[in-house]
Amino acid sequence: MLIRIFLAAILIFNLLPGWGKDALQTVLVTGGAGYIGTQTCKALKEAGYLPIVYDNLSFGHAEAVEWGILEVGDLSDRKKLYQVIDKYHPIAVVHFAALKSAGESVKDPAKYYLNNVCGSVILLDAMREKGLYKIIFSSSAAIYGRASKFCPIKETDQCQPINPYGTSKWMVEKILQDFNQAYGLQYVALRYFNVAGADLKSRCGERGSAPQNLIPIVLQVASKKREELQIFGSDYPTPDGTAIRDYIHVGDLADAHVKALQYLLKANPSAIINLGTGKGSSVKEVVEIARSVTKQAIPVKKALRRAGDPAFLTADYELAKKLLGWEPKHSDLKTIIESEWNWIQLQDR
Ligand SMILES: NC(=O)c1ccc[n+]([C@@H]2O[C@H](COP(=O)([O-])OP(=O)(O)OC[C@H]3O[C@@H](n4cnc5c(N)ncnc54)[C@H](O)[C@@H]3O)[C@@H](O)[C@H]2O)c1
Repeated sequence: MLIRIFLAAILIFNLLPGWGKDALQTVLVTGGAGYIGTQTCKALKEAGYLPIVYDNLSFGHAEAVEWGILEVGDLSDRKKLYQVIDKYHPIAVVHFAALKSAGESVKDPAKYYLNNVCGSVILLDAMREKGLYKIIFSSSAAIYGRASKFCPIKETDQCQPINPYGTSKWMVEKILQDFNQAYGLQYVALRYFNVAGADLKSRCGERGSAPQNLIPIVLQVASKKREELQIFGSDYPTPDGTAIRDYIHVGDLADAHVKALQYLLKANPSAIINLGTGKGSSVKEVVEIARSVTKQAIPVKKALRRAGDPAFLTADYELAKKLLGWEPKHSDLKTIIESEWNWIQLQDR
């Protein structure tokens, strides 16, 4: 009888979250059902953490939450945030949840400031109330805006966002600095450059039919979902006249989040870090490589430059190397485009 009670006690102890000595440490991942969040949950799980995805599923997908536990909730729902933090006792937060269309943010800034800025303040305040003081924040190269003519761009270069989306990211960075000074919140803000690609084994990738970025749009043309690609500006001061951007594979980005988490867990100081490759590729180069990967024609049409689009936008990522020991491994254009093409074809089956 005593032996049975003893065995039952061991079983219950191991089933309760966080109680068994082998229980995984949990990390709260807001927006973890979205494109980059899903890849990062996979990387966190592979690194030995248990992601707790907090997502309102406005753009995320429940079926993408394969590497963690899903809690459906909105950033504005402080009560739900408290409940989730109390239930799982996360050691840190990775904060992806945001709206991300620069164009839409110009037409409807209120929506962007409410969701991205007010939502982040509620999250940060809930964390403070619950004694949770470590956060990794998804920032963006969009905060450099017009200042980006000096490339590769450094974290210390001037920020001059040109749309409410970029401003919302910049405002949250400022708020993080204030929370750091006043309450000792530790953060790493990661400024992503042009994120693209899918898992190399096609286990996850971007979902949704209205992509905003160049590579998925090019691949929509390749898969005949769009007639042609509009090239905005062919008269830039670049070798082939088209704009140059710094493309980073989403898997490399996910890896940087795991490294940023480990950096914070070692009680290192807060930091703002660029994530890019330092190398740029032009629109024409993207199209050429997409043609060779997909073996499709990909018709293009020249269009006027878009207001505010700089000729070059590439990252200086020395700080990511120095502080996080991070280097991009899969961010060559061929790997990015191949992985995304494989993922798209799998979705279309
Ligand atoms: N994809 C890029 O090229 C890129 C570049 C720079 C920065 N970022 C930033 O990275 C983050 C993730 O981007 P993504 O491409 O994975 O976008 P995504 O739209 O795929 O993911 C964002 C997720 O956040 C969720 N969400 C949005 N508002 C929410 C709210 N109020 N409460 C709860 N959940 C909410 C959505 O449902 C979605 O699942 C965003 O903060 C974005 O601004 C993305």
